[in-house]
Amino acid sequence: MHDIIEQLESKRAAARLGGGEKRIAAQHAKGKLSARERIELLLDEGTFEEWDMFVEHRCADFGMAEQKVPGDGVVTGYGMINGRLVFVFSQDFTVFGGALSEAHAEKICKVMDQAMNVGAPVIGLNDSGGARIQEGVASLGGYAEVFQRNVMASGVIPQISLIMGPCAGGAVYSPAMTDFIFMVKDSSYMFVTGPEVVKTVTHEEVTAEELGGAGTHNSKSGVADLAFENDVEALLMLRRFFNYLPLNNKERPPLRPSGDPAERLDSSLDTLVPENPNKPYDMKELILKVVDDGDFFELQPEYAKNIVIGFARLDGQSVGIVANNPQVLAGCLDIKSAIKAARFVRFCDAFNIPVVTFVDVPGFMPGTAQEYGGIIKHGAKLLYAYAECTVPKVTVITRKAYGGAYDVMSSKHLRGDVNFAWPNAEIAVMGAKGAVEIIFREDKGDPAKLAAREAEYKARFANPFVAGARGYIDDVIQPHETRRRICRSLAMLKDKKLANPWRKHGNIPL
Ligand code: HXC
Repeated sequence: MHDIIEQLESKRAAARLGGGEKRIAAQHAKGKLSARERIELLLDEGTFEEWDMFVEHRCADFGMAEQKVPGDGVVTGYGMINGRLVFVFSQDFTVFGGALSEAHAEKICKVMDQAMNVGAPVIGLNDSGGARIQEGVASLGGYAEVFQRNVMASGVIPQISLIMGPCAGGAVYSPAMTDFIFMVKDSSYMFVTGPEVVKTVTHEEVTAEELGGAGTHNSKSGVADLAFENDVEALLMLRRFFNYLPLNNKERPPLRPSGDPAERLDSSLDTLVPENPNKPYDMKELILKVVDDGDFFELQPEYAKNIVIGFARLDGQSVGIVANNPQVLAGCLDIKSAIKAARFVRFCDAFNIPVVTFVDVPGFMPGTAQEYGGIIKHGAKLLYAYAECTVPKVTVITRKAYGGAYDVMSSKHLRGDVNFAWPNAEIAVMGAKGAVEIIFREDKGDPAKLAAREAEYKARFANPFVAGARGYIDDVIQPHETRRRICRSLAMLKDKKLANPWRKHGNIPL
């Protein structure tokens, strides 16, 4: 008995040491924490239950039989974040560069399977050189097993990837299928093929950072949702982020009441929108003034800035916020912004998080770049997402709601539950100038007449009352009472039940 306990302790000690002190020191020298240190920071103290510490790879090629590290390069198990259950895997770069073997994949699959059985999220801390090269197809099979589970878990339990080191080759596709990807600046990379392969195939010279660093994926590709300064910040922010989410698709997100009264008014909102309808204003100021404690967890802040998305709370309840941003491209919808918002709306819908939409949109972005890029198909994603969404939807038109974009942005016709407009709202097919140029083409040579027509069109349509008269707008509200009116609407909608017809799945325009 004594022997076996000694053996147990020595195996545990070996597993804890991963690839050894030298490699842990090298990891620290790069500003990275070890796989275990990361788990310690992520989870509530003392809650981590580790599994599969004794798992070893089964590869005998290339001298691998002599190189076995208990745990095989990934630390897995479960624990708590602010008292709520979560499953975790953390790849250990000190063991074969965190490369994924068959056994390593089996460990990840085990936590994913159990997370699905009990209905709890999975967080992956990725730091891996990809498929374990010595194992060949066995490791490819391992990846595919993980991918399959990612897809089955999609929309059932939240899945979050934190990229904390290299993430190369097919390895990027597991994070890509999770709900959110966070990256660490200067130490994490994601690419399908690295700079060397790129040079050989396309003759482009590009650094790893330019090709797939946090900057690239947070501003150019839109693959990532946020970038953090370092491991510590990333893990602490992930804990905060976790609080907005339910454990699974059958639960509601946790309520976090704050001292911020639901009935709070903010008179500064009455002057937020400039007199001149072509002048931008800060939509984020509106969001911060409306949500609980001015606390807004924005996602993708550097990508498709013409739309703003993120989580906040209203009267303690998690909500997803979507808002056009008149400061960028006048808030027009284009390909990137439609995709960005559509995916977010679908996440909220899958996980019982109400969607609050602030609308100031002059329309879809015109031009060949957008048309050739497929704005018809990509813009339709957002339309589809809002239309299929059954969670409570509250919409506030703060200024413009023109054309197809009016329809798309959570309009009454797409089953918007409560649709408000501010008194200065302009809801019409298009702006007055463009409209009269088309319908009064015969007056083209007479600027005075055209100006009079434009003024007439404006007076007739550039207001919320035409839509109000048809019940497309439930009420025209004062800007200062926006928070109170949304909070009351959400309270009314708390037990909303709405189901879409049965189908295997819809066919969203991908
Ligand atoms: C086995 C690997 C490995 C891998 C790294 N190592 N990647 N071992 N399989 N994929 C080992 C190294 O041999 C080294 O071992 C240790 O990990 C650390 O690696 P270094 O190269 O010293 O570290 P660094 O300089 O930081 O570079 C990290 C790296 C680089 C960028 C990840 O190692 C790299 O490019 N690796 C290969 C990446 C790759 O091509 N992977 C396969 C992708 S294809 P020692 O003993 O020296 O410490 C793929 C297919 C999946 O993933 C398909 C799924 C559909």
